[in-house]
Amino acid sequence: MGKSLNNPLDFKNCIAYPGLFNAHDHLLGTYLPRVGRGPYLSWKPWDDDLKTSDLYQERSMLTNAHIYQISYYRQILSGVTTVCDHIPHIVHKDFLGGSFVRIIKEYCLAHEISSYELKWGDDHKVEIERAKKKNIPFITHLEEGFDEESKQGTEILHRKKGIFKNSVLVHCVSCSLEDIKLIAKQKASMVWCPNSNYYMFNQTAKIKDFIEQGVNVCLGTDSPMSGSVNLFAELQFAQKTYQKLYGSKISPKLLFKMITINPAKAFRLDQQLGTIEEGKLADILILKKSKEVDPYKKVVNANTEDIEMLWKEGVPLYFKEEYYSKLPKAILQNYEKVCLESKGGKITAYLIGKPHLLKKKINESVNFKKELEFIPII
Ligand SMILES: [Fe+2]
Repeated sequence: MGKSLNNPLDFKNCIAYPGLFNAHDHLLGTYLPRVGRGPYLSWKPWDDDLKTSDLYQERSMLTNAHIYQISYYRQILSGVTTVCDHIPHIVHKDFLGGSFVRIIKEYCLAHEISSYELKWGDDHKVEIERAKKKNIPFITHLEEGFDEESKQGTEILHRKKGIFKNSVLVHCVSCSLEDIKLIAKQKASMVWCPNSNYYMFNQTAKIKDFIEQGVNVCLGTDSPMSGSVNLFAELQFAQKTYQKLYGSKISPKLLFKMITINPAKAFRLDQQLGTIEEGKLADILILKKSKEVDPYKKVVNANTEDIEMLWKEGVPLYFKEEYYSKLPKAILQNYEKVCLESKGGKITAYLIGKPHLLKKKINESVNFKKELEFIPII
């Protein structure tokens, strides 16, 4: 093997990819169904509708620990080993050690830039300065809406010196071409969440302009309470959206970069993640080879049944039944056998942790049999 293995590795019966990277999520929102009466003018009325909904009450009957556990399975079953949980550190600090997937730890943040933002983190200028000093990401929603304040988000953030190489700017739905050129010039990254954007606004960012201007674009699911069920669904939605908006197909290789090396760069983790390469962490997604010969097309159209195995730092998170006897006996007690419902039919596989117990706890918490697509155990 060569030193640099940036591309998917093509084997006889399967293809190996770096573990996927979900660049934007709020893990505490891992619940269903989606809530909303859009299209809205900004994220705020959606947030008000969510927080006054019966479903929000229902979700609050679960412990945060259980919701975080659900969120790990949601990521695993779409090949994700690393996720950005955009939330104040205090919310998830107790879950970082016990998480099956990697949750980004080092970042500064704002919720967004308007006068009606949620108060996350310290003052914007303090968070921005800290991110620069520590060379860690500064993450914020930006222009998540079409009201006058949202539309001025880029300009306001730039005045606060908040658009720079470590900035991870999420949504950007009302960014003008001038805004996009500024973001490109400042070498900031952007996270595209088309499903959430369409659900809330019936529109999304001018993604072709972001790509053409050379912005480091990443893809994220956002919370499933506005966005996609998982990253596989987001990839499929992104392809349909691009085709609908521009009448041509988005490059599968580019989409693949948006879920691997681009977010690794955006979150300053490209020395460890984003490619299969000597010296990097052993996060590996193995998909079953099918008639689809192009490895990029294969991964951007994948579903759970295509996953043969998923590894994070050399530890299996998920594997199909046939691999059970090939793994060291000492580790097998860490997995439960599950029969999963997927688009292509039923799968028998092993999942890390105690997914059956988690399902039981969810049902006990809400006092009825709650079906959640994230854990499609039959
Ligand atoms: Fe978000």
